[in-house]
Amino acid sequence: MPQRGLACDMVVFGGTGDLAMRKLLPALYYLHRDRHLNPDTRILALARARHEPEAYRTLVKRRISQYLPQGDFDEQVWEAFATRLDYLSLDVSQRVAFPRLAKALGESPGRVRVFYLATMPELFASTAKYLASVGLADDQARIVLEKPLGQSLETANQINDQIGSVFDESRVFRIDHYLGKEAVQNLLALRFGNALFEPLWRNAHIDHVQISVLETVGVENRGDYYDKAGAIRDMVQNHLLQLLCLVAMEAPVHFEPEAVRNEKLKILEALRPITGMDVQDHTVRGQYSEGSRAGEKLPAYYFEKSVDHDSNTETFVALKAEIDSWRWAGVPFYLRTGKATAQRKSEIVIQFKAVPHRLFPQKGDDPAGNRLVIRLQPDESIQLSLAAKSPGRGMTLQQVELDLNFAKAFKRRRWDAYERLLLDVIEGDATLFMRRDEIEAAWRWVDPIILGWQNCYRSPKRYAAGSWGPEAADSLLERQGHYWLDERSR
Ligand code: BG6
Repeated sequence: MPQRGLACDMVVFGGTGDLAMRKLLPALYYLHRDRHLNPDTRILALARARHEPEAYRTLVKRRISQYLPQGDFDEQVWEAFATRLDYLSLDVSQRVAFPRLAKALGESPGRVRVFYLATMPELFASTAKYLASVGLADDQARIVLEKPLGQSLETANQINDQIGSVFDESRVFRIDHYLGKEAVQNLLALRFGNALFEPLWRNAHIDHVQISVLETVGVENRGDYYDKAGAIRDMVQNHLLQLLCLVAMEAPVHFEPEAVRNEKLKILEALRPITGMDVQDHTVRGQYSEGSRAGEKLPAYYFEKSVDHDSNTETFVALKAEIDSWRWAGVPFYLRTGKATAQRKSEIVIQFKAVPHRLFPQKGDDPAGNRLVIRLQPDESIQLSLAAKSPGRGMTLQQVELDLNFAKAFKRRRWDAYERLLLDVIEGDATLFMRRDEIEAAWRWVDPIILGWQNCYRSPKRYAAGSWGPEAADSLLERQGHYWLDERSR
């Protein structure tokens, strides 16, 4: 029987929004179903919309029964879950709303309270202040902030300062849902739970690393937000850099918040700045134009809802990052992310160096060298390519794969990232959350890239929706004698 977490009040700001409906409430439903929530835990959703609690519950029921995989929605489980769920119609941009919130939560000294801000970041600072003004920011209160945290180092600092004046760092949980993914934690297991790779995990043996997070979807109905953010702020500053940290960091002394985050921070601080003219040489930005996938026409980015027709926002970024450290000097880390691409996949490829002296001919033009492919989604797997003798006469080698598929290896349902992360917040475990200095270091590295793009006045390179991104992203690697190891090359 799983252990039940601490009793808490989970207060979800933005309770009618997409994140709450698609991710947070389904995650809480599963946690409830699988008995990870204390029987005394309550969920209070807040939003401006005027719903009676019962009408809100009906709405949530409809939405989550749509999002959950077939068979996972159970009427009886729902009935019990619904008794935990309450709703309050509040305009949280107004201080006067907060006494009502305090009243709804009631006096319960010592009770853990989680304030999950699934709202616009513009509301983060005032919300924290208003919570404090009604005595809700006490020692047991935790605040969860969704990305994007600011638009730059400066704006992120402003938000962090304001939040920090109310909640001390140990009670601030900055979420990066990539860190909650089972597959991402598996990367830590692979690296630090096995002795096999560690001796090879360095520049003496690794030729280069590729990290790709590609999506087939466009900006969907988030044009308003996305057009101001672009792929670099939406994906690179957080998810991709976090993945890079997990690939590159040293083994922490303990699997505990400060130990893990200290190691990630060292990597962010060791990233070689990309500034001035280097921005053009080391980065590529793209924007999707009209295209198609499997015969279906796809619209151009600038025709998406709430996107400016003259938009210069990038929906694709490829770049070459370098880490100035003994372990990684000379190893390029190629990062790439894009919307409306040919395939949905998040993958880390570790390309090892070729053998120092070739004895055998190699079949095809595959680079001779082992390759570890850690696929995070859609199917979680680890593949290790090895050179094997091709059957028949002679000694011609060919790369073949050892393939570990996690869905086959573990029959149990894989948790969604938010389930794990919500439970960690309730337990007060910040290991998988970003510390303030990590956010700052990431912005410090990303800001000059954005500045370089602004200063050169070049529009993003167009790529057809449904393709693999702009050609320039391929040239970026070809200039180094590399190429993207995706379906085009396999
Ligand atoms: C979010 C971005 O953080 O991550 C979205 O804002 C993106 O633009 C999403 O689509 C991708 O997450 P996942 O879990 O689907 O890979």
